[in-house]
Amino acid sequence: MRALTWHGKHDVRVETVDDPKIVNPRDVIIKVSATAICGSDLHIYDSFIPSMLPGDILGHEFMGEVVEIGKGGSGDLRVGDRVVVPFNIACGNCRPCKTGQFAGCDNSNPADKADLSEVAYGHGVSGIFGYSHMTGGYAGGQAELVRVPYADVGPMKVPEGLTDEQVLFLSDIFPTGWMAAENCMIEPGDTVAVWGCGPVGQFAIRSAFLQGAEKVIAIDHHPNRLALAAQAGAEVLNYHDVKVREALMEMTGGRGPDSCIDAVGMESHGFAPDNVIDAAKAAVRLATDRTHVLREVIMACRKGGHVSVPGVYGGISDKFPVGAFMEKGLTLKTGQTHTQKYMAKLLDMVVEGKIDPTFVISHRLPLEQAAEGYKMFKTQQDEVTKVVLKTDWKDAA
Ligand SMILES: NC(=O)c1ccc[n+]([C@@H]2O[C@H](COP(=O)([O-])OP(=O)(O)OC[C@H]3O[C@@H](n4cnc5c(N)ncnc54)[C@H](O)[C@@H]3O)[C@@H](O)[C@H]2O)c1
Ligand SMILES: [Zn+2]
Ligand SMILES: [Zn+2]
Repeated sequence: MRALTWHGKHDVRVETVDDPKIVNPRDVIIKVSATAICGSDLHIYDSFIPSMLPGDILGHEFMGEVVEIGKGGSGDLRVGDRVVVPFNIACGNCRPCKTGQFAGCDNSNPADKADLSEVAYGHGVSGIFGYSHMTGGYAGGQAELVRVPYADVGPMKVPEGLTDEQVLFLSDIFPTGWMAAENCMIEPGDTVAVWGCGPVGQFAIRSAFLQGAEKVIAIDHHPNRLALAAQAGAEVLNYHDVKVREALMEMTGGRGPDSCIDAVGMESHGFAPDNVIDAAKAAVRLATDRTHVLREVIMACRKGGHVSVPGVYGGISDKFPVGAFMEKGLTLKTGQTHTQKYMAKLLDMVVEGKIDPTFVISHRLPLEQAAEGYKMFKTQQDEVTKVVLKTDWKDAA
């Protein structure tokens, strides 16, 4: 089959590789119809995620048709079913899965328990498709075929009449934006500030309104992404033009936003002094993440407010404003998204027309041009918001 493989920093290639095989009884094989490139893929592209090996297949946002089923327990899935697959892999039986904490599944990462994630985080992390050997070394879905484990838990059948593009983002960025807003515990009248107007920020903005926020303030520096945020009703701030904290204080009567969402993560842009120091340290491998946005979020949030961090961080950071965090009595919630918990509810919202997730798509490419898609998404963010890759380009819209 053809698949997008990683070979090093900014070096991804579409190659012919072996077809996946059923390994465990609860596996299915999916013939991928559509897949997307995520901001999280850029962290791999930029070589910020350790334990990648040359030839690893990327991609964790995908959907398609079930073409093969393992011998036991794929639930009610049948060959021919059209499904969308959550990006994280979860067994459905462990304590975290039973309590809806699917992204904390104890069983889906087969890596050696002494692996990097246990050393770095104190606990081994769960499995994720196409996201390094630290998260299980699973082949990803930017491919013609993909093996999906625990198929009775993850994949969700797509009702007739919905296009791939309407449901593809249930695999990640829509639930991620939704959970980011949910973690803000929004009350009527609340103002929510969202840093980062990439795809995750865009869904966080729309989710915050759907969950009852009165005002959403969106922060970025790409005019096209800010314009998309404004279309959803957000007030926007370009951090090149204003001092973000000061502007937020002015817009909230001197209180600060009730909740602040960091939808940027470890690769914060900009020339704020702390960001430049983080970048210099990262360049010589003295540090990993650039945590400027997390610091700014904590400093801006009102006393007693909620800080929600869907943005991915991977290592350790200094200059964490621990005093502001404690003295203001902030609540911080974060994590990889418990996608499985939200998919059905958010599908209903798509069916009911409460949201049309296709708003975020700016570019469509055949899988064969996936490397070009990565380059565009990385270097032309002022034009590119979301790239969808289609395996059968003849059918592409
Ligand atoms: N928690 C999860 O389960 C989950 C799921 C998907 C993505 N993510 C993470 O969410 C983050 C966003 O993903 P995305 O796909 O939207 O990525 P993206 O790279 O397309 O968007 C990031 C945006 O942040 C903006 N930005 C950079 N520095 C900024 C700053 N200082 N202030 C304000 N904005 C700034 C950029 O201009 C860009 O528009 C990434 O870290 C990604 O890994 C997390
Ligand atoms: Zn993603
Ligand atoms: Zn589990």
